[in-house]
Amino acid sequence: MLVPMTHSLTLIPGDGIGPEVTRAVVRILAEAGVPIEWEREEAGLVAVEQFGDPLPQRMLDSIRRTRVALKGPLTTPVGQGFTSVNVGLRKTLDLFVNLRPVFNLPGVAARFGHLDLVLVRENTEDLYSGLEHEVVPGVMVSMKVITRAASMRIARFAFDYARRHGRRRVTTVHKANIMKRGDGLFLACAREVAAEYPEIQHDDRIVDAACMHLVMRPETFDLLLMPNLYGDIVSDLCAGLVGGLGVVGSANLGHDAAVFEAVHGTAPDIAGQDAANPTALLLSALMMLRHIGEEAAAERIRGALTRVLADGQVRTRDLGGRATTTEFADAICRELAAG
Ligand code: NAI
Repeated sequence: MLVPMTHSLTLIPGDGIGPEVTRAVVRILAEAGVPIEWEREEAGLVAVEQFGDPLPQRMLDSIRRTRVALKGPLTTPVGQGFTSVNVGLRKTLDLFVNLRPVFNLPGVAARFGHLDLVLVRENTEDLYSGLEHEVVPGVMVSMKVITRAASMRIARFAFDYARRHGRRRVTTVHKANIMKRGDGLFLACAREVAAEYPEIQHDDRIVDAACMHLVMRPETFDLLLMPNLYGDIVSDLCAGLVGGLGVVGSANLGHDAAVFEAVHGTAPDIAGQDAANPTALLLSALMMLRHIGEEAAAERIRGALTRVLADGQVRTRDLGGRATTTEFADAICRELAAG
């Protein structure tokens, strides 16, 4: 008999609603019979309390060893305190791609039906370089860094992804009319790479106009290629088009490691209430399962999730229902058990 390979993966529960949604997702993966041994590691606020470091070395070592992590959200203090652990993790592990598929789910009310977009966000530079200083009292400078190397590799990823997944058009989003040099370089790199993919159309939109078109006619887009900051903002906007932050997953990909997490944050307004929607993290986990070659399990879970959402009896509060995180996970587990 063929013994299935056990996957060693890193689990970072995170804070806020993180532990609640990761618990739900880990249960669902176990119910689907995916053989996973989790290395549980802390980061962010919890790690500061335990190790005095929001980005502990043992957590980084674990991801370098397993090469794959499922991660809950982490708090970033606003305007003070430690720098973003999410940004630190992406930079340290050189997770240069942030991939966010945005699509409608059955039974989830949304402004548009049949949306199927892919967002590719550069994940390591731009205004997230963390380079800020005070020039003179009352004058701050935050540096936006755009390099040819990072712009070329994210553009290559976007066009490769489009080719592999049958996407026909890549739209580069920028503000090169104002930031002629920085965004100008990002756009020039996208155009250079586009020339190597003649079967894929390439066009570009200034970020403000792109937002307007996304709100009015999102179906006219296919794959959006963006520098870091616009990618961050536009992906929340796109989440809003398909039902909110509770239903969009994402992957941070590098050559040596991959970290899968929801688009949403720690949701402090509902943390500890067993009220969060675990769908976003579950969709991220499905991307993770495909990444590690567990396509069949990913398909089974997707089927169970789809049936529970379409049925509409068990819905979390963000989708207009009253179910708890636990009850929603129970419903998916029942579907999986029923086959
Ligand atoms: P947020 O995404 O945590 O919450 C925004 C709104 O969406 C809230 O009303 C929240 O209740 C709702 N929401 C989010 N996820 C939900 C879910 N799964 N189910 C139901 N409702 C959900 O954004 P916010 O409040 O701006 O950020 C809170 C903290 O999260 C900050 O410290 C921020 O830095 C951090 N954050 C972390 C991220 C990460 O770890 N990747 C990503 C985004 C924010």
